[in-house]
Amino acid sequence: MPVRSFRGAHFAVQPVEVASRCIAAGCRPGGLVLDMFSGAGTTAVAARRLSRRFIGVDLRADYHRLALERLGLPGDRGGGVSW
Ligand SMILES: C[S@@+](CC[C@H](N)C(=O)[O-])C[C@H]1O[C@@H](n2cnc3c(N)ncnc32)[C@H](O)[C@@H]1O
Repeated sequence: MPVRSFRGAHFAVQPVEVASRCIAAGCRPGGLVLDMFSGAGTTAVAARRLSRRFIGVDLRADYHRLALERLGLPGDRGGGVSW
């Protein structure tokens, strides 16, 4: 699996490919992915690419903003990332 960089200000971003493989293995298309430690939203990126719904939770509001920016979503979603 190739290593890729992410320019956002998060300390531990996982590769999208890791999240993609887990989602493809464990969640049907149209299903719901819950990430309780969503950080910069890598799992959200993978869920969207694979046509899954998504709920992301993170302690840090600044990481939510980073994730929303990465996803091109508005920043007024009540402190979380979801669709
Ligand atoms: C390793 S990072 C997740 C990175 C994410 N997978 C990505 O690729 O961007 C772990 C995240 O857990 C969050 N976190 C730590 N403790 C938490 C808690 N008690 N509740 C919710 N989020 C928490 C941190 O703010 C951090 O963003």
